[in-house]
This record gives sequence, C-alpha cells and structure tokens, in this order.
Amino acid sequence: RGEMTVGELAKLLHKDASEVIKKLLFLGVMATINQEVDLETIQLIADEFKVEVDLKLPVSEDPFEETEEKDEEADLQERPAVVTIMGHVDHGKTTLLDAIRKTNVTSAEAGGITQHIGAYQVEYNNKKVTFLDTPGHEAFTLMRSRGAQVTDITIIVVAADDGVMPQTVEAISHAKAANCPIIVAVNKVDKPEANPDRVKQELTEYELVPEEWGGDTIFVNVSAKQGMGLDELLEMILLVSEVNEYKANPDKRARGTVIEAELDKGRGPVVRILVQHGTLKVGDAFVAGTCFGRVRAMVNDRGRRLKEAGPSTPVEITGLTDVPQAGDPFMAFEDERKARSIAEKRATTYRQSQLGANTRVTLDDLFKHI
Ligand code: GTP
Ligand code: MG
Repeated sequence: RGEMTVGELAKLLHKDASEVIKKLLFLGVMATINQEVDLETIQLIADEFKVEVDLKLPVSEDPFEETEEKDEEADLQERPAVVTIMGHVDHGKTTLLDAIRKTNVTSAEAGGITQHIGAYQVEYNNKKVTFLDTPGHEAFTLMRSRGAQVTDITIIVVAADDGVMPQTVEAISHAKAANCPIIVAVNKVDKPEANPDRVKQELTEYELVPEEWGGDTIFVNVSAKQGMGLDELLEMILLVSEVNEYKANPDKRARGTVIEAELDKGRGPVVRILVQHGTLKVGDAFVAGTCFGRVRAMVNDRGRRLKEAGPSTPVEITGLTDVPQAGDPFMAFEDERKARSIAEKRATTYRQSQLGANTRVTLDDLFKHI
C-alpha cells in the first residue's frame, strides 16, 4: 500500500520530483510523479538524501483518541488513587503489599480466594486505594514508553539495613520522569542494624528531603514483617490523594490499560486491566491493543464476579480473541463490529509505527531539520 506519491515525497524532502525519480531509478524502481511509494521506499530515498525521518504516526491518529467521549468538569467524580510500590531487590516490596492487603481487605470480601491479577484494592478509613503489584522496572518502562500512565503515587521502599541501592535510584528516576508524587517507605526498621536516618541522608542527594529537614517528601518508617507503620503509610497515601483530587468520569465507555495478559488453557486469552475512565460492563465490546472481544466474565482481585467496574478498579476479564501486551491501551465500544474495525485500524497504525521506530525525526519535524 502506498503512503504518498513521488511528488509529495519530493516536496517533503524539499527536492525536485525529477531528483527523486532519478534516485528511484538508481534503486531499480521505475516511477512517475504520481506513483505511490511505500514506507520502506520513503525511508530509502530519505537515506539517499541523508535526511532522517521518523514515520511514526502522531498520537492524534490513534482511533482511541478520536472516539473517547470528552469529559465535562461536572462529570468527574473522586476515584481511588493508583499506587505502585517500587524499590531495590529484597527491600520488602512484596511483603509490604501483602501486609497492607491482609489487614485492609473489605469485610464483604474477606475470605475470598486471592486471585493473582497484578493489582489489588484495599479499603482504609472508608476510602479505597488501588495498588499495582510491584511491576518490574522493565514493565514500568515499557508502559511509559507506550504512553501508559497508570500510577498516581509511587512508594519507594528502601530497606533501613541496606540503604539506597542502584534500583532505588532507578525507581526514583522513573517516578520523577512520570511526574508521580513519591512517598518513601523506610522498611525493616525492626532489624537491629536498621538505620533509617542514614536512608534519609542518602536520599537527600536525589532531592528527596524529609519534612523535618525542611523538604517536602513524605517518609514513613515501616516494618512490613511486623506490620508496623502501615496505618501511617495508608494515611499518607490518602493525604496525597486528597491533595491531588484524583478524578474520573464513571459514566462513559471504559478506557484503561492492560496490566498483564496470558493465554489460559481452559479460558482462552485472559487479560488483567486497570479501568481508568468510565465503567466496564459484562457484555461490553472492547479493544485491547490490537485485539478485540466482548467481556464474557469479569472478576476482581478477590475472585468475585463483577457485573461492572468503575475507575481505578483492577479486573480480570475473558472474552478476547487474542492476547494483548502489558501496557496496551484498552477501550470499550458500542458494538463488536466497531471494536473489530478499531482494532484493525490500530494494527495498521502499530505496524507503521514499528517501521519508524528506529528513526529520529517525525514527518512533521522534517521541515525543521533540512
Ligand atoms: P523482589 O521482589 O525480589 O525485588 O523483593 P521484594 O522487594 O519484594 O522483597 P520481599 O518482600 O520478597 O522481602 C525480601 C526479604 O526481606 C524477605 O525475606 C522478607 O521476609 C524480608 N523482609 C521484608 N520486610 C521486612 C521487614 O520489615 N523486616 C524484616 N526483618 N525483614 C523483612
Ligand atoms: Mg517482590
């Protein structure tokens, strides 16, 4: 399929059409000015003229962007904060999350079978908080590179007996790049060799200065193992949530992000998503990445069947035709036909963006660079 004509390409490259045709001939392609050239040829010709091009389509061409219903300020309602726990290996991320979860599961759901859905929701002081289960830093980077901003707050866990380590620094830079408020949880304070003040001292180098030292970073001393400091940590999360007023419109078609996806032998493709906008309902047609389907069944992190899921709710759903990737955007549509056509459109866009992935300048930028 042609992307543009020889004439258009020449114009874009600020060259004469005859020069482009000559180059094409040189490459063994007989072409006229109105002939369409594909992306690969555009790339080759650009190389010939030593012009860098990036054929990635602008975000504005993602059909998701055009089809999302826009929100009015009045439609927005408070939603739970989405919190990610990050930190160096063995500093206690999983233990901390387990401890928070064990003590703060809503009574209606206590005793439910724990599902592994990559995200959990707890309730504290009648407020819900959604936790993303320590995605590896690579998953976080992948999500960010795909433009998926799923986290509202990052908790950086630092073991008080070990101090700031390479992955701590990496986690801090991820959080800062994503413009995400940081709460530092200084963990393992139960250990005799724990030195929380040293952790604070070390973190000042990364512009994380505790309030008592004149900074504005929240530090909480915790022991995930002994369940110490968890209330304070949750209170701080709620405080940051209140200040930032996380909101979403629950009354529209759902939009969110794929957290995990896999092929289950019995159930087919299973996808765990975080609903970020709108409400997802059983029976809804949807697109995840370049895959489409219809929500057959939906369960929460306690294995409970749900009929619908609003903003900041992590759910596991079945009913897809294929397996999407972590970080893929997700959107519900009015019917399956629409979903299918949007999925196909996205697949084309995606292929094209793959083609342009290793070049630097966008077509829009071209003029500025030659
Ligand atoms: P990775 O997922 O491998 O990066 O590790 P993690 O950060 O999830 O650490 P994990 O929760 O697996 O804990 C690592 C070890 O530290 C385990 O042996 C825990 O029992 C121990 N640990 C975690 N929190 C505490 C704590 O507060 N006090 C003490 N004494 N040990 C802890
Ligand atoms: Mg872990």
